[in-house]
Amino acid sequence: MISQDLEKAVALLHQGECVGMPTETVYGLAADATSVEAVAKIFAIKNRPTFDPLIVHLSGIEEVERVALDFPPLAQKLAERFWPGPLTLILPKRDLIPDLVSSGLPTIGVRVPRHPMAQSLLQKFGKPLAAPSANRFGRISPTSAEAVEKELGEAVKLILDGGPCEIGLESTIVGFDQGTPTILRLGGISLEELESVLGTIRLENHPHARPQAPGQIEQHYAPRKPLKLVNNLEELRSHREPSRGALIWGEEPVAGYGELFNLSPKKNWNEAAANFFQMLRALDDGPSLDLVALRLPEIGLGRAINERLSRAAHGSVSGVVH
Ligand code: TXA
Ligand code: MG
Repeated sequence: MISQDLEKAVALLHQGECVGMPTETVYGLAADATSVEAVAKIFAIKNRPTFDPLIVHLSGIEEVERVALDFPPLAQKLAERFWPGPLTLILPKRDLIPDLVSSGLPTIGVRVPRHPMAQSLLQKFGKPLAAPSANRFGRISPTSAEAVEKELGEAVKLILDGGPCEIGLESTIVGFDQGTPTILRLGGISLEELESVLGTIRLENHPHARPQAPGQIEQHYAPRKPLKLVNNLEELRSHREPSRGALIWGEEPVAGYGELFNLSPKKNWNEAAANFFQMLRALDDGPSLDLVALRLPEIGLGRAINERLSRAAHGSVSGVVH
């Protein structure tokens, strides 16, 4: 049920149930991060393999020491700059957080979300919340309460409605293997923003290929329909079909597709990010038989969108789109 009843959400969390939680990135499926039974329900509802660890959400930076054994200076620096916000830090885990949350890893991902409703929920509940994106495993992340309901339906008793997500992409994940900051997943904080604080930062070549940072599975964020990626307008025009849907950006006119969704006519990559999952979902639910998407320039959030597009297209039946 979609609702704005925070008290009810808190009561459900105390009973060990899961609730849908709006954040500035995407909607999460939240449960008490200190309860194995509650966390197990997240995996069951999402049909998520238990080797894919969850992110632990905190109400503020001062909560980190409750869940992490160490908070290295570089991690603190990033937290001070980007929290509350779309950044997840990988830190050594304390025993308060059960191993199920971290999939047996000695580390956990922690993040302080800035959505006011997520903040209120965390403060009222008083404990950390484990929350993956509220989609079925491998599917398109939800950026509205309605999208959560479509993904998970009756399995979730309450979905808090906090409106459409401001950022629209998941958090950027930074790990500190041997003290060196490394981007494990590109997301709502761009590479350029991280570099403005740290100087250079390592970007894992195939971040999602690493077992400890799944999301990490090659096919992810996947529509049901075949999806083909194209690199430029010429290629985009050569794939026109009335039965095909296209996800584009920019002001150049594109005709000949049955459906056309424009991420950002003005090439504003933040706007493109905010529209991305919602438009991909609309195309997946619409009448087109298959889909084409135009890659974005590798700048700002464009990089994170491209990464998701590649993953969404991976495993799509090639040859369906000519
Ligand atoms: O923006 C977000 O991060 C959203 C909202 C709800 O906060 N959450 C989210 O969760 O995207 P999820 O479960 O879809 O992705 C979490 C990913 C995992 O797939 C894994 O890659 C990484 O976080 N992760 C979690 N714990 C980790 C750890 N200890 N080491 C490495 N990666 C970890
Ligand atoms: Mg996810």
